[in-house]
Amino acid sequence: MSGFRCRQCDYRSGKWLGRCPSCGAWGALEEHAAEGSGQRVTVAAGTPRPLPQLDAAAGTRTATGIAELDRVLGGGLVPGMVVLIGGEPGIGKSTLLLQAGAALAASGGTVLYVSGEESPGQLRLRAERLAVDSPALLVLSETDVDVVVETVRRSRPSVVIVDSIQAVRCAELGSVPGSVAQVRESAARLVELAKGTGTPMLLVGHVTKDGSLAGPRALAHVVDTVVQFEGDRHHAHRILRALKNRFGPADELGVFTMTGAGLRAVGDPSELFLAERREDAPGSAVLAAIEGTRPLLVEIQALVGEPAQGSPRRTSLGVDGQRVALVLAVLGRRAGVELAQRDVFVNVAGGLSIVEPAADLAVAAALTSSLTGRPLAPRSAIIGELGLTGEIRRVSRLGARLREAARLGFESAVVPHGVTPDAETEGLRLRAARDLAEALELVFDPAAAPRTR
Ligand code: TYD
Ligand code: MG
Repeated sequence: MSGFRCRQCDYRSGKWLGRCPSCGAWGALEEHAAEGSGQRVTVAAGTPRPLPQLDAAAGTRTATGIAELDRVLGGGLVPGMVVLIGGEPGIGKSTLLLQAGAALAASGGTVLYVSGEESPGQLRLRAERLAVDSPALLVLSETDVDVVVETVRRSRPSVVIVDSIQAVRCAELGSVPGSVAQVRESAARLVELAKGTGTPMLLVGHVTKDGSLAGPRALAHVVDTVVQFEGDRHHAHRILRALKNRFGPADELGVFTMTGAGLRAVGDPSELFLAERREDAPGSAVLAAIEGTRPLLVEIQALVGEPAQGSPRRTSLGVDGQRVALVLAVLGRRAGVELAQRDVFVNVAGGLSIVEPAADLAVAAALTSSLTGRPLAPRSAIIGELGLTGEIRRVSRLGARLREAARLGFESAVVPHGVTPDAETEGLRLRAARDLAEALELVFDPAAAPRTR
């Protein structure tokens, strides 16, 4: 039995209606499994417990054995934790989870890998490619969520992997697998199972480029942790990022490269992201960023075009377009760098996304460098947020950023004025700037002559 429920006002109906008779919303009725009929007669009271007597969930973490995944999860899996791993098709979700499953199985647990998309034969091929071969990794080819639930209740694995949540379905619902109603209901049953049995669960969720596909968006609030697997399919590296984490820090970053034999952790991401940088090229700046808890050096690239016909183009990849607009406005008004009539492109090399405003000054420096054709000082990192009056604002964790720059052999850094880093940064010359105009004096390579291209 199933029924329909309005997403807006919770109105119930036995049949689907285009418009909710109660609140008037269009297309808001969704199919859901019928709840038990009849009213509950007796209800037992709950037993509240004093706060200090509660067990800390984080105390009993199980490491997956994939260090970069554990970092993103905040140290590993917690009993009953449900993790959604989202990403575009082909990015490597199945690969990551098969590797994690094998590592978990090798450390003594039994892992149930529910495969709803691939045949056992395909899984076996991947396993051979990854050279994983563990008898404690059990594979179930199944798409019926109730069969999955029953299997877990009987066989009590230590971890369950479901690949993917769009492939499983709930037999009572009439809608096709992958529809919002199916994905929600299946996930709700799996979450209930995880919480009831204390079994950690990793769910794969496909996301399209615009993030719109039924599923992950609708599930974010049901699961404990949402991890996004990103990357450019044309590059080998993959970035794993926690978007939400009830059991650890969000925004933590894990970096992998996809090799012929599966995903390999990248021990030194800064080195990876700067590997293809041309130091003497105008428009290239190095930002010492903080991603999650770790410092990371990344290259910010800018390209300024000839004066545009009509309205100029503004394209930014990896940095917020609004932030770039702010930097452009401040550059024009406070430093005389006029870009209003030019096409402007800003890109973070390597497909990374930088959200922190500490990138402002590096963006401004890269733009100015591209406009003037002068390369920036080669082994110098740039750190600072821009205010609307042109002031350079302080950023968090300056010491960690500077240490990372020093570790990679940088010689100097342009930093906000008036801050003393919390740790020594040997060998790194600090050049403090109060405002944008001052900073732009410091960022250029004094030895390099301007180039036109
Ligand atoms: P996959 O894990 O199937 O992606 P998803 O589950 O997110 O759809 O990975 C697919 C891609 O990864 C595919 O293009 C092949 C590539 N790949 C490798 O490069 N090396 C490997 O060892 C494996 C298993 C896959
Ligand atoms: Mg897959």
